[in-house]
Amino acid sequence: MRSPGPSRTLNATMRVGNKDMEQRKISWAEPYKIKMVELIAMTTREQREAALVEAGYNTFLLPSEKVYIDLLTDSGTSAMSDRQWAGMMMGDEAYAGSRNFYHLEKAIQDTYGYKYIVPTHQGRGAENILSQIMIKKGQFVPGNMYFTTTRLHQELAGGTFVDIIIDEAHDPNNTFAFKGNVDLNKLQVLIDKHGADKIAYVSIATTVNMAGGQPVSMANLKELRALCTKHGISIIHDMTRVAENAYMIQQLEPGHADRSVQDIVKEICSLTDGATMSAKKDALVNIGGFLAVNDWDVFEEARNMVVVYEGLHTYGGLAGRDMEAMAIGIGESVQEDHIRARVGQVFYLGKKLLDAGIPIVKPVGTHGVFLDAKAFLPHLKQTAFPAQVLAAELYLESGVRAMERGIVSAGRNKDTGDHYYPELELVRLTIPRRAYTQAHMDVVAESVERVYERRKSITGLKMVYEPKYLRFFQARFERLPA
Ligand code: F0G
Repeated sequence: MRSPGPSRTLNATMRVGNKDMEQRKISWAEPYKIKMVELIAMTTREQREAALVEAGYNTFLLPSEKVYIDLLTDSGTSAMSDRQWAGMMMGDEAYAGSRNFYHLEKAIQDTYGYKYIVPTHQGRGAENILSQIMIKKGQFVPGNMYFTTTRLHQELAGGTFVDIIIDEAHDPNNTFAFKGNVDLNKLQVLIDKHGADKIAYVSIATTVNMAGGQPVSMANLKELRALCTKHGISIIHDMTRVAENAYMIQQLEPGHADRSVQDIVKEICSLTDGATMSAKKDALVNIGGFLAVNDWDVFEEARNMVVVYEGLHTYGGLAGRDMEAMAIGIGESVQEDHIRARVGQVFYLGKKLLDAGIPIVKPVGTHGVFLDAKAFLPHLKQTAFPAQVLAAELYLESGVRAMERGIVSAGRNKDTGDHYYPELELVRLTIPRRAYTQAHMDVVAESVERVYERRKSITGLKMVYEPKYLRFFQARFERLPA
């Protein structure tokens, strides 16, 4: 039942200009110019070594002032446009009924097509509310791979997450174009075994962060919709990077080349029943999120619950000015020049690393390049935290900050208490939107290459402090002896 789709060779996707520019071999540059700059610090190796020890070899615990190029995350780290900043000045900070809320509501309805919206301070605020409303204790929540906060909220609400992503997603060397796709057979097996009533909803992310930023195809979403409708199961969409996913459909899926990204985004959303959004990614804001649904009853409950956890339903933990910046950012996120440059910059870095023979997840994802730590450091066992140590070594090398996405991020199985052992043991070089230039990407690629040259001398880590929830944020490590 796998949807047909192209395999993606990397070179075919390294497009940063539009087709016309490509045919005429015209150079490409960022579709914006810089109006304000933020100075960043260079550090010495000694300073970085001290900072790493202080941070327990966890890049989350490094002060950002000691970071040169910050690729920890693309979340809340983007540069806002002059229009967004102008919108910030138009904040209506009324407790109830802020004009910016109505603007945001309209932007979401127009761009995504969902009917009812509830703002939240960020994505996980929406996940908390929606999970509590839609999951009954003992139910399953199948999804196309997990995301850390999403799965935790599903579990805290009494649900059990089941991974139904296609097997290709777990193989960093498989170049299938749409590795975010759902394996419909896996979903069917779950339905047959437990019954549709035991399934709270299907949780679908566009794109799939933990798989390396891999997109879902439209054909797969349509098949999923049909199967879920047949069994009366809802689909909840983690739409955090939906514009990036739509761009990949436009570029690679047959039949979509002449459609706008906006049009594809709307169709993706129309195939789902509701969504949670971290607006800190696609929507180009430093803080914000929302949940959006088409079902009035779910909306009513969410609108009531948001008051308990976030704030009144017309601000959801945000200032009026934040909602205005989000409304404007949503519009900018689906502009063709923007999305092409955004994904194009990630591909530029990916191509540099591939050309240098560095093991990365293939195909290159849309929001970052993911180093394959198992292949980079094959001499380390997974319990020596290869991705964690690789992120630390990259910081030590050059002050570039990346993030572990492997065994530490995966956490522990709540029933057995043992680690989850994910197939993918990755270091994520996540690219903020509109914040860095191609020159920064060159520096990053060279830094990774230098670490690769001395990879054989790198030893593992042991965990010396482990928090109970989302341990990767605050866990501490020490170096194992050589
Ligand atoms: N879903 C996905 C796919 C995400 O990538 C994130 C956050 C969330 C939900 C939660 O949203 O942070 O606004 O509460 N991802 C960030 C990252 C943290 O670095 O990938 P949030």
